[in-house]
Order: sequence, then structure tokens, then C-alpha cells
Amino acid sequence: MLCSKTAFLSGRRFFSAFARNCGHENPLGLPKSGSPPQLPRMQRGLPQKRHLPNVKKVIAVSSAKGGVGKSTVAVNVALALQRLGKRTGLLDADIFGPSVPKLLNLSGEPMLSENNRLVPMSNYGIQSMSMGYLVGAEAPVVWRGLMVMKAMQQLLHEVEWDNLDVLVLDMPPGTGDIQLTITQQVVLDGAIIVSTPQDIALIDAIKGINMFRKVGVPITGMVQNMSIFICPNCSHHSHIFGAEGGRLTRECDRLGIDLLGDVPLHATICQDSDRGVPTVVADSEGSNARAYMDIAERVAKKIFT
Ligand SMILES: Nc1ncnc2c1ncn2[C@@H]1O[C@H](COP(=O)(O)OP(=O)(O)O)[C@@H](O)[C@H]1O
Ligand SMILES: [Mg+2]
Ligand SMILES: [Zn+2]
Repeated sequence: MLCSKTAFLSGRRFFSAFARNCGHENPLGLPKSGSPPQLPRMQRGLPQKRHLPNVKKVIAVSSAKGGVGKSTVAVNVALALQRLGKRTGLLDADIFGPSVPKLLNLSGEPMLSENNRLVPMSNYGIQSMSMGYLVGAEAPVVWRGLMVMKAMQQLLHEVEWDNLDVLVLDMPPGTGDIQLTITQQVVLDGAIIVSTPQDIALIDAIKGINMFRKVGVPITGMVQNMSIFICPNCSHHSHIFGAEGGRLTRECDRLGIDLLGDVPLHATICQDSDRGVPTVVADSEGSNARAYMDIAERVAKKIFT
């Protein structure tokens, strides 16, 4: 009570206060009873692709597999694009496993704008929005089906981005419902596919590429993550997954896709992420940051020209 009163007095409104006033017990304003939310009639038919307000370009960072480094690529490429002078946002579309709050070292709940849209949270010069801000870092998201779609729509369409040149979407893993919903509802200017060099990851990456192609999203290119292991003790380089990276290059050639760059497997990349200071910020002139900058330069060249 005190909290919302203070918020009222200071003229600031938080998301949870809004949700309480609306008589809902969860922050997204979904129904209490667990009955599926009613979608407006228009949305029941074929979904319509929309441009996001105040956003010039949208690129998805995707991988069909989890754990290949998608979020790490997404946050570092977003920060790299910002260093290149683009006003950049990062939207965490991974509803079940949001990592943007941790990667950007942000917590707390977002405020609401005049017209009840979520105000992005910012750090290191980029704007961000994530399910993690709405439900808290450790609460599991246990909704299903339509509830998830409703949450997804709010994250996609009800954020008050402040005049972005580019929005980077950290996609959830897989090629299922959520991915399709996103690709069908938002005009995507490109997709970056992240893969590791192993066959199992590559096979899934190709599935991802085919999904984007099917829905008419241009593939910006592929990022090879963890191709080379750099020993933190002696800086020795080793191709722990074999193949000297040649397999992925050949696949890119075969599919007619650009290889946007390689990111080495390096202990500090993981440590930087874990403490919420991504490598492009933590060691901005280092070779790992350089790898992400190179990728961002290629991406910028492709989507802004
Ligand atoms: N190039 C890299 N070198 C070292 N660790 C990495 C690298 N890329 C990602 N990681 C680590 O691997 C784990 C999974 O990465 P993450 O970006 O969360 O994957 P995804 O989003 O695909 O599930 C994280 O702990 C991350 O810090
Ligand atoms: Mg992730
Ligand atoms: Zn060594």
C-alpha cells in the first residue's frame, strides 16, 4: 500500500501496481481462474505481421538448440551495435528461460508509461525488456498455450521503446509455436543463426534456417560459437569439436548463407556474462569483444544498407 502510495505521490507507476488495480493476481493481467484469455476476434484468424512502434529494424538471434550461446551472442552483438552508433534495444523473447536481466545486471520491475505500456529498463546504453523483469528472477513460468502467447504478445507489442534504430530479439530455442508466433506477428529484417560446430547443433541450426525461410524472413547469417578453445593458462588454441570449423563454412556455402563470424570458447566470456558485464563492455578492446564487433559490423552493413 505504502509502496503504491509513494509511487502515486511521486507520479511514477509500477507494473505490479497496475496489475493489482486491475484485479489480477499475476503481473501480466492474465485471468485468475486459469481459463484461457480471450483474444480479440481479429486475432483468431491468420496473424498479421506488424512493425513495432518506434523501432526501425528488428533482428532475431536464434538457434534451434538451447545452450549454444544465443543469449551471449544477442547481448554482445546488441552492445556492439550500440557502440557502432545505433540506438539499440534487446528484447528477451525467451519466456521460459529469460537471461537478459542477468546479462545486463538489471532487476526490479518496469514502470508503465502514460498509455500503460512497459517502459524498457536500460544499462550500458541499451534498452531492454524481459519476462524476467515481470515475474522475478527465480519464479518458474509455468503457463501453457494461450497464456504464453498472450505474454509473448505483450512483450512484442506493448513496450514503449524509445526511438530505436535496431531491436535485437533473443529468441527462445526451438522451432515451435512461440517462434512461429513471433515470426508471424513481427516484421523481422533479419535472423542471425547461432550454432556450435558439432553435427547435432548444425542439424538443428539448419531446421531453424528453414523455418525462417518458410515464413519469409531473410537470413542475415550464421555465427559459429565455441569453434576454437583458447586455453586461459597458455593461450593455446585447440579445435575441441574438431573439423577446424570447416564443416560449418561448407554448410553455409551449400545453403547460400553468410558466415558472420566466429566466437571462440573462452572462460572469460562465460565469467563476464555471469557477473552481468558482457564481454563487449568488460574488455571492450580485447580479441573476444573484437569477434562480436566484427559480427555487428557485418550485420549493420546488411540491414542498414
Ligand atoms: N564463446 C563462449 N565462451 C565461453 N562460454 C560461452 C560462450 N558462449 C556462451 N557461453 C556460455 O555458455 C552458456 C550458455 O550460453 P547462452 O548464451 O545462455 O546460451 P543459449 O541462450 O543458447 O541457451 C552460458 O553460461 C554462457 O556464458
Ligand atoms: Mg538463452
Ligand atoms: Zn594451456
